[in-house]
Amino acid sequence: MARLYFDGNAELIRDRTIAMIGFGNQGSAQALNLRDGGFKVVIGNIEDEYAGRARDQGFTVYSIPEAVKHGDIIVMAIPDEVQPEVWVRDIAPNLLPGKIVIFLSGYNVYYGFIKPPKDVDVVMVAPRMIGEGVRDNFVNGKGFPVLIGVANDHSGKAWDYTLAYSKAIGAIGRPGGVAVESSCEEETVTDLFSEHTWAGAFLFLLAEGYNVLIENGVSPEAAMLELWASGELIAITKAIAEKGLFAQLKGHSTTSQYGHLTWGPRYVTDDVKRLMRDAIRQIKDGTFAREWALEKMLGYPVFNRLWDEVMKSRVWQDEDKLYRVLERRK
Ligand code: NAI
Repeated sequence: MARLYFDGNAELIRDRTIAMIGFGNQGSAQALNLRDGGFKVVIGNIEDEYAGRARDQGFTVYSIPEAVKHGDIIVMAIPDEVQPEVWVRDIAPNLLPGKIVIFLSGYNVYYGFIKPPKDVDVVMVAPRMIGEGVRDNFVNGKGFPVLIGVANDHSGKAWDYTLAYSKAIGAIGRPGGVAVESSCEEETVTDLFSEHTWAGAFLFLLAEGYNVLIENGVSPEAAMLELWASGELIAITKAIAEKGLFAQLKGHSTTSQYGHLTWGPRYVTDDVKRLMRDAIRQIKDGTFAREWALEKMLGYPVFNRLWDEVMKSRVWQDEDKLYRVLERRK
């Protein structure tokens, strides 16, 4: 079993300036949590709408090179695929010895797309929570899980810093919070594995389920509400997290339990098992990372085409109508 930590000493970094590079999903949530906890935070951002949002929230916003100069702790809160070029151009030339670099995912360190110098601490604090959850939990006095790792322990205190930062952003030292000792490799492989297997499959299975119900004369409204729009899934995933993957089934009717247990395993065919092993192989040997880096270099042609296809699909169009009626979308 992995080593678990429930608290850390945030005082270790209390007098340091934290340069949050990026003010998106994670950057904005973590910066707000840190500021509310009394930590010194500045934002490093390109001049875009995110920089405007950070200023509107009262943060000092510098260019990325300036923020790196001001910060004792540099937090990499920009998308993984843009980090390598920003690192080479804006971060590495301004990074002085003795600083602490915090990655929120292990991706670039694991694949070697970023090679930090030996004279800085390089750590990972990877929230298992979307940015909105990082902020909401903090505001509600709750913690959240993070995976922590150390890629370079220059000071000899790098592990302490992972816990100090986890505590400072409100992940640990609060109910529900835990830091799991991990590594850049483990974090990257498990995160991508989820995205490439059940998480993607889940969305497309629901979309296909919608098509099948419609073919069988069910109205779009009834189909969508049954499959995802009612919010029942929220209750189920909450019960999975709190009670356990299968233990939560006990909360369903016996008819539902029997249906889950007889039909669920039929979808885990030999093809699906092979696909999952293929997915992890392509993650570990770097095939996916190379494909994604190339995609970025070419200006995201496939990514944009796939989004176009989704947005033209019947499920998207029908959902758009329903969500406007329900005032969930403008
Ligand atoms: P995001 O997509 O929300 O990042 C937006 C920020 O990146 C903005 O400040 C924007 O100005 C900046 N940015 C975008 N393109 C840029 C460019 N070419 N040059 C410089 N800055 C640019 O990023 P997100 O989703 O918060 O991810 C940040 C890190 O956190 C990643 O390492 C990700 O793997 C990790 N992470 C994200 C989670 C999430 O909930 N989204 C969960 C756990 C980890």
